[in-house]
Amino acid sequence: MGTKVKKVMLVFGTRPEAIKMCPLVNELKRRKGISTTVCVTGQHREMLDQVLEVFDVEPDYDLCIMQPKQTLFDITTNVLENIKNVLTEEKPDVVLVHGDTSTTFVSALACFYLQIPLGHVEAGLRTYNIYSPYPEEFNRQAVSLISKYNFAPTEKAKQNLLAEKRNADDIYVTGNTAIDALKTTVAQDYSHPLLDWAKGSRLILLTAHRRENLGKPLENIFSAIKKIVEEFDDIKVIYPIHMNPVIRETANRIFKETDRISIVDPFDVLDFHNVMARAYMVLTDSGGIQEEAPSLGKPVLVLRDTTERPEGVEAGTLKLVGTDKKNLYNEFKTLLTDEKAYHAMSIAANPYGDGLASKRIADILEGIG
Ligand code: UD1
Ligand code: UDP
Repeated sequence: MGTKVKKVMLVFGTRPEAIKMCPLVNELKRRKGISTTVCVTGQHREMLDQVLEVFDVEPDYDLCIMQPKQTLFDITTNVLENIKNVLTEEKPDVVLVHGDTSTTFVSALACFYLQIPLGHVEAGLRTYNIYSPYPEEFNRQAVSLISKYNFAPTEKAKQNLLAEKRNADDIYVTGNTAIDALKTTVAQDYSHPLLDWAKGSRLILLTAHRRENLGKPLENIFSAIKKIVEEFDDIKVIYPIHMNPVIRETANRIFKETDRISIVDPFDVLDFHNVMARAYMVLTDSGGIQEEAPSLGKPVLVLRDTTERPEGVEAGTLKLVGTDKKNLYNEFKTLLTDEKAYHAMSIAANPYGDGLASKRIADILEGIG
């Protein structure tokens, strides 16, 4: 990087960004030569606050933009309008954003308008289909046009950026800060009432929230899961459901009166990681969970048609199954009945780094990396 950075601002707004940025916030705050400020957009509220509490991070600015059933227009205009003053007041030497949310894209755009250098954490993930995931693939590609410093989690992500003619000197392979977080959360000694409830059964952990899955795809997913639960009386499903009311309505309608499916409010990250570590398998359309599960050796059926995380597929832990009801039913059944197929997917592998990604990013920012 050459010159030393003195003032760093981290901007994030949703649960996954917070889980992967808080370890970096805390690492940067330990560095004497750097002044670190945190601006949260509040794109998520409860789910963001849960993470801030676990990592003991107090934001300097909170844009409080969340609205019920917010549209992409709402998020975009509200973040852009509100972040301008924060950036002009603070005048950071560099702003760090994470990943691919609307908070990420719009904050990057604001930095571009104000000509503030941008660093992109978890840079270079790609599906090359801007509608899958939607709008995330567009967001991350757009951020790469703006960002000066690119912190790629893997060599593959770096290669994507190089293929797009990004400057090789500005790309750093650091590992994923998701692993930094995971190293601090999973404990040998852990208990939870829902684990007691699931004792003696095979525990399936479910999450789903992707915008492109709302509506029919989500109905297909839930119907396939319900059918399997009715057929296999030795499984129990824990579903810490996203706060999105649209998802809640669909889940409650389809899963009603299915007593081996427990729908609960979102877990904080400590609970989520510990429950995942004890699950038989995971069903999810989440991005972050695709990074965490390989480390824990938990087979994941990915409820999407594409993934920007091919490393987990190559490691054998993830399988893309899409949202077709019959296909999901068949793949789910195979993992419950075919021991060989199950074991092939449950070998722990970690393609996402050694848990020192935050340290590397902080070193680079200090100009000593
Ligand atoms: C957002 C990101 C997505 C990321 C996901 C992580 C965008 C466009 N989408 O999607 O990339 O994978 O976060 O979870 O940036 N809600 C609450 N409380 C909360 C959070 C959400 O009530 O703490 C409800 C609100 O009604 C909100 C709705 O959920 O309007 C949807 O939230 P939003 O951030 O727009 O979309 P996500 O699906 O969470
Ligand atoms: N997670 C959590 N509580 C939950 C569900 C997920 O803390 O109830 C964590 C999970 O461990 C991962 C992150 O949230 O680190 C993933 O967030 P999400 O699936 O909402 O977003 P994505 O990663 O798809 O952008």
